[in-house]
Amino acid sequence: MNSPESNQDLQDDSALQFLADGRLRHLLTLQGLDGALLTTLLDEAQTFVSTTGDAPVRHDSLAGLTVANLFFEPSTRTRASFDLASKRLGADVLNLDVNTSSRKKGESILDTIFTLQAMQVDIMVVRDAGAGVPAYIARHVNDHVSILNAGEADVSHPTQGLLDLLTIRQHKGDFADLNVVIVGDILHSRVARSAAQGLTSLNVGELRLISPPALSPDPKEFPGAILGDNLDEGLADADVVMALRIQRERIGNLDGIPGIDEYFARYGISHERMKIAAPGAIVMHPGPMNRGIEIESALADSSASVITEQVTNGVAVRMAILERVARTLEAN
Ligand code: CP
Repeated sequence: MNSPESNQDLQDDSALQFLADGRLRHLLTLQGLDGALLTTLLDEAQTFVSTTGDAPVRHDSLAGLTVANLFFEPSTRTRASFDLASKRLGADVLNLDVNTSSRKKGESILDTIFTLQAMQVDIMVVRDAGAGVPAYIARHVNDHVSILNAGEADVSHPTQGLLDLLTIRQHKGDFADLNVVIVGDILHSRVARSAAQGLTSLNVGELRLISPPALSPDPKEFPGAILGDNLDEGLADADVVMALRIQRERIGNLDGIPGIDEYFARYGISHERMKIAAPGAIVMHPGPMNRGIEIESALADSSASVITEQVTNGVAVRMAILERVARTLEAN
């Protein structure tokens, strides 16, 4: 498997997303999507957002196409939103039950992919705990198949990054004026990596990454960001505050990571702590959320919280990406 362990690998994965004429065929990473393309994708996603209480937006732009959801790692939000997004665009949708699939009998991931390709699946949505899996699949599928990364190890979660950008833009407008804080397990977070890539391309004012020292990433992975371990310092004049959970499934040794009470005291966001942030600051969380650990429960449900809007925007963003790659496949 080709794990993206170097900058060259990441650049290769980014280039692999595009056809020679620049059209987006796969979505593997936000790395390499420039500000203009990100802005266009956010504009397209915005057209799929409906007012709460109204019927969801529907199109038939994916009629005749088949989308397969292949989630080899657990998911609620991403899987459900790709399912709804595909159906609201008129696609046939296959949700493969991995636990009862032939991968449990030892079938390789490529043999599973080729089997679905033979059934004329056009778009495969892939979540996997292995780094490099979406790009590996993208390198092997036929020209008429598109691969969308729905969460790849600690490497990349591009549609989450897009929905986070859309939510920030809806509330705060121009990214250049903003101080954005992400607090939590940055080291193991694909959400933080994709958010940072997107925010950097959109020229965010300041990106601050706050974590316990044991969960701090290599600064080279986050060029331009300010890294630290003091949340109160990080929150000063913050416009956007995103809390992340500790990714226990990716941590072998919990040494150096504070226990629950100490973690909340030092790294948890709360109403009290948000007084340090700028007036009107928004609170985000990609979910799943651990109330009382990285975020005070009352804050998660408060008017400052945009967490449910992130979920709503997830469907819109995935509709925009599905429509975009479907247009590329049709023109091929
Ligand atoms: N944010 C996110 O990826 O959530 P799920 O794991 O529920 O898809």
